[in-house]
Amino acid sequence: MSTPRLLVAYASHDGQTRRIAEAIAAGFETWQVTYCDLRREPLPALQAHDRVLVALGIRYGHFPPQAVARLRVRINELRTHPDVALIGVCLSARKPRYADPQRSAYLQRLLRRLVWQPGRLAMFAGALRYPRYRWWEQRLMQLVMLVSGGPTNRRTDTEYTDWRTVRRFGLEWAHSPILPATGTDGCEGDNETTRVRGDHALMIPGEAEWEARR
Ligand SMILES: Cc1cc2nc3c(=O)[nH]c(=O)nc-3n(C[C@H](O)[C@H](O)[C@H](O)COP(=O)(O)O)c2cc1C
Repeated sequence: MSTPRLLVAYASHDGQTRRIAEAIAAGFETWQVTYCDLRREPLPALQAHDRVLVALGIRYGHFPPQAVARLRVRINELRTHPDVALIGVCLSARKPRYADPQRSAYLQRLLRRLVWQPGRLAMFAGALRYPRYRWWEQRLMQLVMLVSGGPTNRRTDTEYTDWRTVRRFGLEWAHSPILPATGTDGCEGDNETTRVRGDHALMIPGEAEWEARR
């Protein structure tokens, strides 16, 4: 029997989403794991992988437009793949009510836009690392933390990720039965270059909704 394959497609600005994706992949001990940075490269062929993890970090109220565009041009493949998990990483999820993927405005908006319903969904809390941010990012985060009741001291570096929950997600998934492939990949005719550009035009950076959205 051949070694099962996991594809980890991630988009991470400051590294926390990548770390979370790696912790999930660590549960797949006997699997061959391939990483794809969606901010820099297109998705490899999905049918070559038994499972696909898509992990996206939030900034300014949005998942990275380049990554979303790369998912969009392969959406038929993603829809028909038998075992895809989508996880979002943000600071809102440090509060339990925003950690529920069914109630996460970020995740649900993305799924509506892509008309996609992956088999597994999760939201994980990320990190707030003031010392690593540019000065305007520090000011923005201070403002958001002031409003939402988080640390405002620019010397603080706070990790909100619940690693036990992350690892449990990975282990449960790794130990669930491998589903047989169905359907076709349906990606013929996709043109990444033009669609990536097109998606950029649609995104409105800075349209942060944050915790004020409910
Ligand atoms: C400039 C900036 C904007 C952010 N915007 C949001 C946001 O709109 N909503 C949110 O919940 N978290 C927001 N965050 C928090 C990030 O989602 C969090 O830091 C996460 O860990 C980032 O993942 P990454 O390290 O993979 O980029 C923002 C962080 C920064 C630095």
